[in-house]
Amino acid sequence: MRGTPHRADMWGMEQERPALAAALALQCDWGADEALMESPADRLAVRDAPARAPEAARPAPEPTQPRAVRASPVALATAPPAITRAETLAEAAPDLAALKAAIAAFDGSALKETATNLVFGDGVADSGLMLIGEAPGADEDRAGRPFVGASGQLLDRMFASVGLSRESSFYITNILPWRPPGNRTPTDAEVALFLPFLRRQVALVRPKRLVLVGGVAAKGLIGGKEGITRLRGRWHEVDIPGLGRLPALPTLHPAYLLRSPASKRDAWADLLLLRRALDQASG
Ligand code: URA
Repeated sequence: MRGTPHRADMWGMEQERPALAAALALQCDWGADEALMESPADRLAVRDAPARAPEAARPAPEPTQPRAVRASPVALATAPPAITRAETLAEAAPDLAALKAAIAAFDGSALKETATNLVFGDGVADSGLMLIGEAPGADEDRAGRPFVGASGQLLDRMFASVGLSRESSFYITNILPWRPPGNRTPTDAEVALFLPFLRRQVALVRPKRLVLVGGVAAKGLIGGKEGITRLRGRWHEVDIPGLGRLPALPTLHPAYLLRSPASKRDAWADLLLLRRALDQASG
């Protein structure tokens, strides 16, 4: 029975506190910055356990993501490289629903193992305008929708100031469909691995223009060594297989603008460039 802890127990808890704090800090350093269940689950022990725990003792079901099927060592040795499999899967997808299913089934990235939900896209696919950001954060991972957290809300306000919204005037997605643990910046290898899926998504959405939100999206699609501060403020061209060359406008990421409000002036200049291009095309 639980009751008020004894003095001796309290003393023991006080002694353990620094060790517990250090263990927690280690978890955060490794990217486990969010508690999903009441009690921790040792996934390695769960995987290796020969017998299933009784129903009542099992942890509550986890969110939507299907559990990865582990390939045998022989299958892994003979499988084509992950990037080749990504290209093949992406090319075979005839529409957005099929592409989303293909990404969900793709097991070539460890990101899928730590994310909760696939974040595929949001907004109006046939609007002619497509925004591409970096990667889902904690809020997006939970909701399964891109740009719903603080930076997404700023992005919505910024685009609304030039008359654009995801409800009526653009489609929005990210370079990566899974959240990198601890919101770390995607690696070049992760970007390269998911680019075939993103390019196919662009080819299926068939926008007339792209807005590349932040340095990761800009570098991923434009290439080269220039950073976002040099790339932004002018139109570039991006080649999309099956669609051709598309005008693409890199701009500052709203997460950066939240940290550096003085740069909002540059973001505003980019939005005016976008507005002008849209007006010229329709007028
Ligand atoms: N930042 C991004 O780049 N994308 C999101 O979906 C959320 C935050």
